[in-house]
Amino acid sequence: MEGRMRTKVLGTGMYVPPKVVTNDDLAKFMTTTDDWIVERTGIKTRRYTEGEVGASDLAYEAALQACRSAGIEPSSIDLIIFATLSPDYGFPGSGVLLQAKLGAKDIPALDVRNQCSGFLYGLSVADALIRTGQYQRVLLVGAEVHSTGLDFSDRGRDVAVLFGDGAGAVMLGPVDAEEKRGILVTRLHSDGSHAKDLWLEAPASRYSPRLTKEMIDEGRHYPKMNGKRVFVDAVRSMPAVVEECLAAAGLNIADIDLFIAHQANLRICNAVQERLGLDDTKVFNNIQKYGNTTAGSIPIALHEAAAEGRIKKGGLVCVASFGSGYTWAGALIRW
Ligand SMILES: CC(C)(COP(=O)(O)OP(=O)(O)OC[C@H]1O[C@@H](n2cnc3c(N)ncnc32)[C@H](O)[C@@H]1OP(=O)(O)O)[C@@H](O)C(=O)NCCC(=O)NCCS
Repeated sequence: MEGRMRTKVLGTGMYVPPKVVTNDDLAKFMTTTDDWIVERTGIKTRRYTEGEVGASDLAYEAALQACRSAGIEPSSIDLIIFATLSPDYGFPGSGVLLQAKLGAKDIPALDVRNQCSGFLYGLSVADALIRTGQYQRVLLVGAEVHSTGLDFSDRGRDVAVLFGDGAGAVMLGPVDAEEKRGILVTRLHSDGSHAKDLWLEAPASRYSPRLTKEMIDEGRHYPKMNGKRVFVDAVRSMPAVVEECLAAAGLNIADIDLFIAHQANLRICNAVQERLGLDDTKVFNNIQKYGNTTAGSIPIALHEAAAEGRIKKGGLVCVASFGSGYTWAGALIRW
C-alpha cells in the first residue's frame, strides 16, 4: 500500500583516511604487479588507516559531513543505522560508538552486518521506519577498516588487493509522497548456501576457544574468497535485482539517470553495466581510487557522484549490491 510519506536523502557524506596505498606499494609485501591488479580489478589505489582507527572513527567524519550537507545538527538525529563487517570491537557494535562520538544522546543505534549489501539492507530498514512515521532523522552509515585484517602474504593476495578502508553516510528523512521524490523501491536477497564463498571464519563462537595459535598460523582469521564463483554470481545477481526494482516501480532501464553498482571490482561493474545495456554517461564508478570498501562503497559513490554533479534533483538513481552471504540488493531513488 502506498503511504503518504516517502524517504528522501537529505544529505550525503564520506571520509577516507589520508594514506594512499598504490599497487606498487602492495607489491613490496606480496608477489603481484600493478598490471595484474589493474587488469583484473581496475583498482589503482586504496586508502588505509594508520594507528588505532576503527570503523566508527571513519563513520564519524562521514556522518558529520552528511549532517552538514543536510543542515541537521547531530543532536537532532533520532536513529543511527551502522552497516559494517569490520566493527571496532567484537562487541558492542560500532553504532553505539558512533552515537557517543556524535553526542546524539540516548537515541537507538542499530548495527547491520550484511557485508557489501549492508548499506542497502540499512536503507530498506530506514525507509520502512521513516514511512511509518517512527523516525524523522535517520543517519545511515557504511564504514569499513579492512586494512588491519588482510593477509598481505602471497596466500591472501587475491583478497588483499581488492579491499580498502572508508566510510560513506546519508541522512534520511520523510518527504510527502506527493513530491514524487525519495526512495521508490528497495529489494533485498540472501542465499546462505554460499556463506563460505566469501567469509571470515574466526574468531568464531562455534569454537572454544574462538581463536587459537594454530588457527592464526593457518590464516583462518583472514577473509577467504572463491573469487571466480563470486565474480559469476555478482554479474548475474546485480542486473536481476535492478530489473526486479524497475518492474516493481513500473519503470524501464531507459528511465535510469545514474547507476551505481557496489564497487566490488571494475570488471564486475563493467559486466553488470553491459548486461543492463547502460552507456557510460549513466554509470558512476570510483573503485579505481578506493578499492572495495564493502558497506562504505555505495554511500561513498553516492556522495562523490552528487558532489560531481552527476546526480541531479529529480534524477532517477539506481543502486545495486552483491557480496558475502551471499547477500544482494537494489534500490531506486528519485533524487
Ligand atoms: C580475485 C580475482 C580478481 C582473481 O581473478 P581471476 O581471473 O579469477 O584470477 P585467478 O583466481 O584465476 O588467478 C589467476 C592467477 O593469479 C594469481 N593471483 C591471485 N591473486 C593475485 C595477485 N594479487 N597478484 C598476482 N597474481 C595473483 C593466482 O594465484 C593464480 O595463479 P595460478 O594461475 O598460478 O594458480 C577475481 O576472481 C575476482 O575479482 N573475483 C570477484 C572478487 C570480488 O569482487 N569480491 C568481492 C565481492 S563483494
